[in-house]
Amino acid sequence: MTSEEWARWRRDVDLSGYDDRWARMAAAGRNPHGEVDFVMRLAPAAVLDAGCGTGRVAIELARRGVEVVGVDLDPELLGVARTKAPDLAWVEADLAELDLGRTFDVVVAAGNVIGFVAAADRAAAVAHAAAHVAPGGRWIAGYQLRAGWPTLTDYDGWCAAAGLELEARVATWDGEPLGETPDYAVSVHRRPG
Ligand SMILES: C[S@@+](CC[C@H](N)C(=O)[O-])C[C@H]1O[C@@H](n2cnc3c(N)ncnc32)[C@H](O)[C@@H]1O
Repeated sequence: MTSEEWARWRRDVDLSGYDDRWARMAAAGRNPHGEVDFVMRLAPAAVLDAGCGTGRVAIELARRGVEVVGVDLDPELLGVARTKAPDLAWVEADLAELDLGRTFDVVVAAGNVIGFVAAADRAAAVAHAAAHVAPGGRWIAGYQLRAGWPTLTDYDGWCAAAGLELEARVATWDGEPLGETPDYAVSVHRRPG
């Protein structure tokens, strides 16, 4: 399930303008693909975009030659993704129950997905996402560190329970170091093998 917070956000958002934010970033000379650049440093062949929304990350990964699958439980957002990239694989599913029967070099959750999963489902969402990470592969998630959202200690515990080891943690998708009091973290966990 998604959180109440996400449900509120969805009620208020104008879907037709949802992607404009990234277009505005590009127009302002800022990089709208920090997440994809980050993932591409690992040179993955196959990536699962967990909580793909309108497909922003998955579509750019595919454009760079990666095999991608996008998963989200919101049919409307997935509809936008399908319209933009009908040839890509889009799956409507709850991360907390996901079972695609295969693994990926990287599973990435960009854009606060973990925080927007309902609190009771977050551990299961991490476990099910992690189950899709191949041996030697990575689970990468970036989310804000704010009240009511998972602490890094909780998050690392869920990852460890899923057999993943913390490999790196930075403050932004551009790789800036984590400061003393971070308000955002990008965490990279690796499945040994
Ligand atoms: C802020 S959006 C980020 C979308 C996309 N990753 C991006 O960066 O543009 C958060 C996404 O998480 C999805 N989400 C939240 N809870 C989920 C769950 N339990 N299973 C699958 N997707 C979920 C929402 O539907 C939404 O698309």
